[in-house]
Amino acid sequence: MDNSSIFISWMILGLLLTLGNVAPQAEAARAFFVFGDSLVDNGNNNYLATTARADAYPYGIDYPTHRATGRFSNGLNIPDLISEQIGSEPTLPYLSPELTGQRLLVGANFASAGIGILNDTGVQFINIIRIAKQLEYFQQYQQRVSALIGPEQTQRLVNQALILMTLGGNDFVNNYYLVPFSARSRQFALPDYVVYIISEYRKILVRLHGLGARRVLVTGTGPLGCVPAELAQHSRAGECAVELQRAAALFNPQLVQMLNELNRELGSDVFIAANAYDMHMDWISNPQAYGFVTSKVACCGQGPYNGIGLCTLASNLCPNRDIYAFWDPFHPSERANRLIVQQIVTGSTKYMNPMNLSTIIALDSRV
Ligand SMILES: *[C@@H]1O[C@H](CO)[C@@H](O)[C@H](O)[C@H]1NC(C)=O
Ligand SMILES: *[C@@H]1O[C@H](CO)[C@@H](O)[C@H](O)[C@H]1NC(C)=O
Repeated sequence: MDNSSIFISWMILGLLLTLGNVAPQAEAARAFFVFGDSLVDNGNNNYLATTARADAYPYGIDYPTHRATGRFSNGLNIPDLISEQIGSEPTLPYLSPELTGQRLLVGANFASAGIGILNDTGVQFINIIRIAKQLEYFQQYQQRVSALIGPEQTQRLVNQALILMTLGGNDFVNNYYLVPFSARSRQFALPDYVVYIISEYRKILVRLHGLGARRVLVTGTGPLGCVPAELAQHSRAGECAVELQRAAALFNPQLVQMLNELNRELGSDVFIAANAYDMHMDWISNPQAYGFVTSKVACCGQGPYNGIGLCTLASNLCPNRDIYAFWDPFHPSERANRLIVQQIVTGSTKYMNPMNLSTIIALDSRV
């Protein structure tokens, strides 16, 4: 070979290497997996015999299709908005028959409304996908993807994925405080109960890591006592319910501490704490500053604060969902979800510990 053909060979090799580097990133955004409760369920419960469901009007009234999907929102929920941020299609519910073939590579949503850290949380909803089962489905998912792209590619897809875990609120609302003198409240004083559920949560996260998770956003609970459902039951003048606020104040710092410990043991920032409490409190304490007319009255519901019972066809329904912080007695509106996700993406260490999602994306794109 003369010099010029060697030069051309090198040029071609260089070009191939460049294309080789670019192509895998261009062909697919990172996969996204979602675990947890109604704050992040996007339709799994539609396929189950349960009372915890959001598959009828007016749920979904502002969703692109204007149909109820199973999301506990007037429109998009937090996972949808995170998918948007990472440049991905929204994940399908794991139980959806449409989740097959190439669509599996986008990720999956395993969340199920009503569940908690504990197996006895949400028993009144009968047939829901408890967290141990969600993790079992994640394992099954990986077997299905392996059959499609092979075990090594599957491992890589899972290791490089972004994961969202939202758990814990129901262990108070739909367990400890569900009825006066509940079994768990007779068994544990509140501080001991929190220590117990944090220790159980830790096991769940260790298992998730064992299944290949390497980047997991873990949301703490919101201000549980400030949701319209609790105001309706406990509030005289709109003040947040004391006991549930006490629960959140105990749970959230211990969660952050547990995540920090896990990261130290793993020698890597696998678990990222999202301070959902402060993210909510911003607009709950000053709704007008965020363009809301109220943060106390739900858009859809009945009774005081529209906080009694479920959001149904028979409920009061506000005409403009964008000016309500709460869509139903428990769940934020799409606009409030957008404020939450904005903090997840760009928030300071007050909101995201040890770093926000834009930092994670920048870091992970370098490996
Ligand atoms: C919850 O149920 C799962 C599966 O049935 C089981 O593996 C796990 O140990 C249970 N957790 C507790 C705290 O009992
Ligand atoms: C969060 O994201 C923004 C970029 O949008 C960045 O400037 C900021 O430093 C980040 N904060 C932290 C604490 O990571």
